Amino acid sequence: MNLFKTSILVFAALLIFVACSQNNSHQVISPDGKIKVSFFVTPEGEPVYNVDFREGTIISNSKMGFEFEDQKALATGLEIVSIDEETVNEKWEMPWGEKHEVENNYNLLKVGLKESSSGRRMDVIFKVYNDGLGFRYEFPEQEQMSKVYIIEENTEFNLTADHKTFWIPGDWDIYEHLYNTTNISDIDATKYRNHPSLGQTSIPNNAVNTPVTMVTSSGTNLSIHEANLTDYAGMTLKVDTTNTSFISCLVGSKNTGYKVEQTVPFTTPWRTIQISDDAAGLIESDLIVNLNEPNKIGDVSWFKPTKYVGIWWDMHLDTRSWHYSAEYDKETKTPGKPHGKHGATTEYTKELIDFASEHHIGGILVEGWNVGWEHWIGFEDREGVFDFITPYPDYDLKEVVRYGKEKGVELIMHHETSAATQTYYEQMDTAFALMQSLGIHSVKTGYVGKILPKGEFHHGQYMVRHYHHVLETAAKYQVAINAHEPIKATGKRRTYPNAIAREGLRGQEFNAWSSDGGNPPEHLPIVAFTRMLGGPIDFTPGIFNLKIDPYKPDNQVSTTLAQQLALYVVINSPIQMAADLIIHYKDHPAFKFIEDVPVNWEQTKVLNGEVGDYVTTARQERGSKNWFVGGITDENPRQMEIKFDFLEPGKTYKATLYKDADDAHWDDNPTAYAIEEMKITSESNLPIKMAPGGGFALSLIAE
Ligand code: NOJ
Ligand code: CA
Repeated sequence: MNLFKTSILVFAALLIFVACSQNNSHQVISPDGKIKVSFFVTPEGEPVYNVDFREGTIISNSKMGFEFEDQKALATGLEIVSIDEETVNEKWEMPWGEKHEVENNYNLLKVGLKESSSGRRMDVIFKVYNDGLGFRYEFPEQEQMSKVYIIEENTEFNLTADHKTFWIPGDWDIYEHLYNTTNISDIDATKYRNHPSLGQTSIPNNAVNTPVTMVTSSGTNLSIHEANLTDYAGMTLKVDTTNTSFISCLVGSKNTGYKVEQTVPFTTPWRTIQISDDAAGLIESDLIVNLNEPNKIGDVSWFKPTKYVGIWWDMHLDTRSWHYSAEYDKETKTPGKPHGKHGATTEYTKELIDFASEHHIGGILVEGWNVGWEHWIGFEDREGVFDFITPYPDYDLKEVVRYGKEKGVELIMHHETSAATQTYYEQMDTAFALMQSLGIHSVKTGYVGKILPKGEFHHGQYMVRHYHHVLETAAKYQVAINAHEPIKATGKRRTYPNAIAREGLRGQEFNAWSSDGGNPPEHLPIVAFTRMLGGPIDFTPGIFNLKIDPYKPDNQVSTTLAQQLALYVVINSPIQMAADLIIHYKDHPAFKFIEDVPVNWEQTKVLNGEVGDYVTTARQERGSKNWFVGGITDENPRQMEIKFDFLEPGKTYKATLYKDADDAHWDDNPTAYAIEEMKITSESNLPIKMAPGGGFALSLIAE
C-alpha cells in the first residue's frame, strides 16, 4: 500500500513578492487545461476567487474570510505577499476499494496573504485537478495569532445560474433526509424544522449539507463538498436564493460561542468542487480521496473486504428485539427476566453462520448482543448504560466467535453508543482490546439520539474530534470502523484505511418503518451522485421480500428485486450486507448473484447516468479478470444498450444477467425477474430494459 508506482514530481516554487494590489490576479489551471481558477484581492483587500470550466465562469467573484470570537475578522485589508506554484503527477494504491491505482495529478497555487494593518497571516492553497478543485486555508505560525476561536468561516460559492440542485437540509445532527430536486432559488431547507415525522432535526438556517450536486442547463455536473475533515466543524452551505449563491456555515455548539477552536499553525479542511462534462464523471472522480494525506496507519491487510449477513433486519421489522428483557437495573447493568423475543442468541447466530458459510459470505453482524438495550432510545440518562464487553445471558460471545472461525465466518462487532460519547471514550480501549483478543477486525458503531454532552451536535467540532479519535484508537487494535449516524465521509479512508464504510444517509432501514412510505425509487439514483461522492456507504441492500409481508403490511422497499442485486455493484463499499432474513434467500435462484459478486475492485467504469434518473456501473474484481455490471433506474422505465468495449479484446466471458421481467414494477410487481445466460465479448452489445424502479445485474466470468 502507499507504493508510488509512477511518481513524477515536478516542483516549481516561485516566490514573488507583490508590492501593490493592482493587476494581482493569479491563475492556476487543471493539467488538461479545462478548469481555470483565478485569485485576486480587491482594492479593499478582500480575497476573491473565480472558477472557469471550458469557456464559461461557473463560480464568480466569491469572497473568503473568517470571523473570530476574540479578535477582529480576517476578511479585508489583505495583500498578497507570496505565490508558490507546484505540479504533482503521481500514483498511489488503495489497499481496498473501487480501484487499485489512483492518479493524483494537479497544479497547485499557494497564495500568502498578510493583513496590512496588523501583519496577521493566512494562506490560501488551491489544487486544481482534471476532475475539479480543492482549496483550503492555512494559518501559518506567526506572532500575531496563537490560538483562534472561529465564529464563522465565510467562503462563498457564487454560482453563475440557477442550477438544478439535488440537496438535503443543512441539518447539524443527521443526514438521514430524502433528497430534494429544485433550482437553487427554490431551496427551502427550513421546511424540515420541527417536522412531525422526522424527529431529531437541527436546522438553524436555510442551508444544505454536502455533497450538494448541481446540473447546469448546458449539462455540466458540479458537486460541492469538503475533504479531510479532521479537527474542525462540518460545513453546511447557507443558501442565498436571490443571488444563486452558497456561503459556508459551520456547525456550531450550544456550549461555546465559537464553532472551531484551533492552535496556530493549522489548516482547514479542503473546500471541494467536483466538475464534470457528464454525471458519470462525478462518480469516477478521485478528488476527495486525493485531497487527503497518504496512509498513516500502515498495513491494513488484517481487514478483509467482505459481504455479511446479520441479526439486524429482524429488529427493524420487529420480529425480534435488540433488548433481552422489559426491565433493566441501570446501576448493576442487569436485565430482568427474558421476554422471549431477543434476537442475538447463540442459537440464531449459529444458524446465520451456517448460512453464511454455505454461501461464501465472510461476515456476520450481531446487534443487541450486549447489555443496555432496555435503556437507550427515549432515555435522557444514557451515559454509563451500554457496556461493550458484557453479553446478555443468552449470547455466548466466545462460542459464536469460535464457531464462526470453524466455518470461515468472522464476527462483525456492534457498538451502539446511543450518542453517549463519554461512556464510549472511557470504554473504547477495553472494547477494542476484547475484539483484538478474539480476532474480530471490524465494528459497526452507532450514535442514535441527541449527542451527550447536551448542546453538542453530530456534525460539530466536538464530534468530528470524537469520530477521529475512534478511528485512531481502533487502528491501534487492528479494528476497522463502519460508523452509523457518522460525520460525513470526506476521503479520510486514504489516510485511515480502517475507515471502511459509514451510513450518513437514509439507508434501507427506513423502508422497514418510516411513516412516510420509505425511500422512493429516485432515492438511490440521487444518492449515487451526492452522498456517494464522499465515500463508501453501508446501505445494506439485498431485500428480496420487497413487500415485507407479512411483517409490515404498511411498508415496502420501493425497487424491484433486480435493482436490489444491482446495488451491490452501483454502491461503493468494501462491506456489503445481504440484509434480508435468511429464510427469504434459501433456495432463491437470484441469491447466486449476491454469492458471486465481489466487494473489492481493480477498476471502476461508470458507463452512463444522469443525476436522479439512472446509473450503470461496471467494476472489475480485484485479482481476477471478472467484471460485474449493475444498473438502476428511478420510477421511469428505461431501455439502453450496453457496450462492452471495456472488456479485454479477444476474451470470452460467461455472462449471467439478472433482469426485471417484462411486467416488473417497483410497486405492482417488484419480485418479477428473469435470469439469462449468454456469452459476451468486447464486441458485444446487449439491449437492457429496466422496469419502473428497476435495474439489472450482470456477472461476467472470464473463460
Ligand atoms: C441505527 C443504525 O443505522 C441501524 O443500522 C442500527 O440497527 C440501529 N441504529 C441500532 O444500532
Ligand atoms: Ca441510522
